Amino acid sequence: MASKDVFYWHLEQMDLKEAIYTRRAVREFTAEPVDEPTIHQLIDAAIQAPSAVNQQPWSFCVVRDKAVLDRISNESKAYMLRTSQAALSHRFQAILSDPNFHIFYHAPALVLISSVAESPWTVEDCSLAAENLMLAARAVGLGTCWIGFAQAWLGTREGKAILKLPGGYVPVAPIIVGHPKSEPKSIPRKEPEIRWVGS
Ligand SMILES: Cc1cc2nc3c(=O)[nH]c(=O)nc-3n(C[C@H](O)[C@H](O)[C@H](O)COP(=O)(O)O)c2cc1C
Repeated sequence: MASKDVFYWHLEQMDLKEAIYTRRAVREFTAEPVDEPTIHQLIDAAIQAPSAVNQQPWSFCVVRDKAVLDRISNESKAYMLRTSQAALSHRFQAILSDPNFHIFYHAPALVLISSVAESPWTVEDCSLAAENLMLAARAVGLGTCWIGFAQAWLGTREGKAILKLPGGYVPVAPIIVGHPKSEPKSIPRKEPEIRWVGS
């Protein structure tokens, strides 16, 4: 059986509804690494997302080097405190000032989805790919969390340089991936505002 088929077989272990309803932001991981074939399979699920004019304007950067993840965490915290202090709540300021706070929660892998150009709908396209990736990860028992804290610094010249991203690329979705240490609690949803127009 080809590796893709193996992955699909695993996906079938959890139906779509279950993956959607049980995906949670995971912030505690075991030390177990995420292997390369699994990351390829998650990216393969990500690129099944729809994209405007079928541009598929996404690029994936995988980081599993702890020193690089630590550096991005430290730089991102400092950058946010330097550039967005006024916009940050006291709670976020305290979190970002804590030297023990790791924005990636010591996850073993980061998959950064960037758009290859700054043009209309590329953020939407990359976000759809990100959701596919997170659901596919959930379906095979992996945990993920979108880490918005990383976005601003990764978009700087220095941030792009550390990941060797071409200058025109725009980091959209930094997603950490790892084996969850525990099942996170579900976050209640607000009642959706729904306006029915017409009959
Ligand atoms: C655009 C975006 C940015 C986020 N940034 C962060 C972040 O920087 N750190 C973090 O711990 N969680 C982050 N999250 C995760 C949210 O806090 C989480 O999805 C939300 O609380 C709902 O919980 P659930 O994913 O378990 O349903 C982010 C989620 C999104 C969609």
